[in-house]
Amino acid sequence: MDNIMCGIVGVTGRQDATEILLHGLEKLEYRGYDSAGIFVSAEDGQNYLVKEKGRIADLRQEVGDDVHGSTGIGHTRWATHGVPSRDNAHPHVSEDGRFYLVHNGVIGNFAQLKAEYLADVNFKSETDTEVIVQLIAHFAKEGMDAKAAFKKVLSLVDTSSSYAFLLMDSQAKDHTLYVAKRKSPLLIGVGKDFNVVCSDAMAMLNVTHDFLEIADGEVVTITPASVDIEDAEGNKVERAPFHVDTDASAAEKGAYEFYMLKEIDEQPAVMRTLEQKYFDEAGNILIDQDLRDAINAADRLYIVAAGTSYHAGLVGKELFEKIAGVPTEVHVASEFAYNMPLLSAKPFFIFLTQSGETADSREVLVNVNKLGYPSLTITNVPNSTLSREASYTLLLHAGPEIAVASTKAYTGQIAVEAILAKAMGQDKDLEVAKNFDLTGELTKVANGMQALVDEKGQVEKLAADVLGTTRNAFYIGRGIDYDVALEAALKLKEVSYVQTEGFASGELKHGTIALIEKGTPVIAIITDPKTAAHTRSNVQEVVARGANVISIAAEGLATDKDQIVLPEVHPLLTPLVSVVSGQLLAYYTSKQRGYDVDKPRNLAKSVTVE
Ligand code: F6R
Repeated sequence: MDNIMCGIVGVTGRQDATEILLHGLEKLEYRGYDSAGIFVSAEDGQNYLVKEKGRIADLRQEVGDDVHGSTGIGHTRWATHGVPSRDNAHPHVSEDGRFYLVHNGVIGNFAQLKAEYLADVNFKSETDTEVIVQLIAHFAKEGMDAKAAFKKVLSLVDTSSSYAFLLMDSQAKDHTLYVAKRKSPLLIGVGKDFNVVCSDAMAMLNVTHDFLEIADGEVVTITPASVDIEDAEGNKVERAPFHVDTDASAAEKGAYEFYMLKEIDEQPAVMRTLEQKYFDEAGNILIDQDLRDAINAADRLYIVAAGTSYHAGLVGKELFEKIAGVPTEVHVASEFAYNMPLLSAKPFFIFLTQSGETADSREVLVNVNKLGYPSLTITNVPNSTLSREASYTLLLHAGPEIAVASTKAYTGQIAVEAILAKAMGQDKDLEVAKNFDLTGELTKVANGMQALVDEKGQVEKLAADVLGTTRNAFYIGRGIDYDVALEAALKLKEVSYVQTEGFASGELKHGTIALIEKGTPVIAIITDPKTAAHTRSNVQEVVARGANVISIAAEGLATDKDQIVLPEVHPLLTPLVSVVSGQLLAYYTSKQRGYDVDKPRNLAKSVTVE
């Protein structure tokens, strides 16, 4: 059994290790998990291993007041092939009780390793991780020291595997932790007389703001006073920490019941922040000329992304083609990775990724780098893997996005694409770009979003009336409204479990309209004057078959029958407002059904395996 998307925390050299680990795991809850555990070692040699199925709150209760120590490791686990259970939860321990290990990733050849080296070992879990910790103990028993045994095992793990490992030797007197990673994210947090380890800086912002990256293939030895990084050949690596500015409180829920609503409400502020970050007072765009020249040298853009970010890419195609005049293709990362289409002569790749860690997108970037093509990552997370590995990065400045369902990152991505498209078009002297008053338009968008979130009570009522008990629903639209229909449908299905299809309205009558029956909810998005009349006829077609319609229309096209009227914004930026209604409908449907809106079942925030 393997486990993925998990969260890792570790600390050495702090008397309050237990609290640091539990607090860190709480901050990683957003990644999605079904069980959790910690191992803590005290100065007097006392060791504590506590694991629990379910929530961190359950683990906290199990830990109680008696677990104290200065070194420890912790983990949230998201099960794939096997059941979430206490036995399968991490940390895993070697049979001799010496080594403790937490792991994020998948070990491709764990069954072979188990058969080859560990036939006599009595296993307590079904996990691939336990094989690794037993194997480390196996080589230690043969006489290797802890680090040598760890490195030996790393050399035996096959190349299909991904991992972030945090290992603790409970016999070591110097509170040493060992760390290595391949593909899966992991950071070292640097403190005074202590050091920490985490999957995401957010987990440790309460104790440090200085972090060190680890590259694939490196082995890191961490004590309270030192962090020693070795490359794959055993050479010492010197690396300066980077500073994370994010305020720990930016990730707090405050008065909100759920992060998703907080993040929906933050979207007007994100638009204003992007205006400040990307425009100077004279209205010049603050994007490096290097990047602008590299992207304008391309004959075609390839946007690669997954899920919501892919949907933001679909809108990006409209922006890059219409404002920057460059042909643009948009691809789902997991498809592109193993089926690369015939590329143009001078391609430029854009990776859209909120987390900057999505394994499917990274796989494409690794190949793009091998081929030597230039690339840009548009991400919310500075220093994330995709940011480090692409030629250029543009940040979303959206603040931490904690709810699993992405909202403000989607609108942030579209706004950054628009800014980049304008910069490109201006450099090419295109009238359409020069005349595009983007700061003015983004201000209009921010005000429009604000008006929509201020009126959320109306959407709450619509959700109850139309989506209250349904098992399925449709979003329909044409052109850019179809792009938003896909995203709004994804939002509704992932948080409320209503089976929802985003559909091109004109395509419905070519088959899918057979699914419309009395009461089927159909939500139509109408913002484009060119296609408004056509979409309205499609609405009539479903009404005639009994559909329960919600229409969301731009102010200039609205009638008094439309339930939601969108504030007027530039025609290419309508997704920034129309999606807000879809996000709110999803949020309220989920909440009204009593679900944990922020942590939908089966999902994880950072999808770090392919
Ligand atoms: C849906 C959602 C996912 C992500 C996708 C890509 O609400 O959040 O579909 O968009 O997993 O993640 P990033 O953008 O981090 O690459």
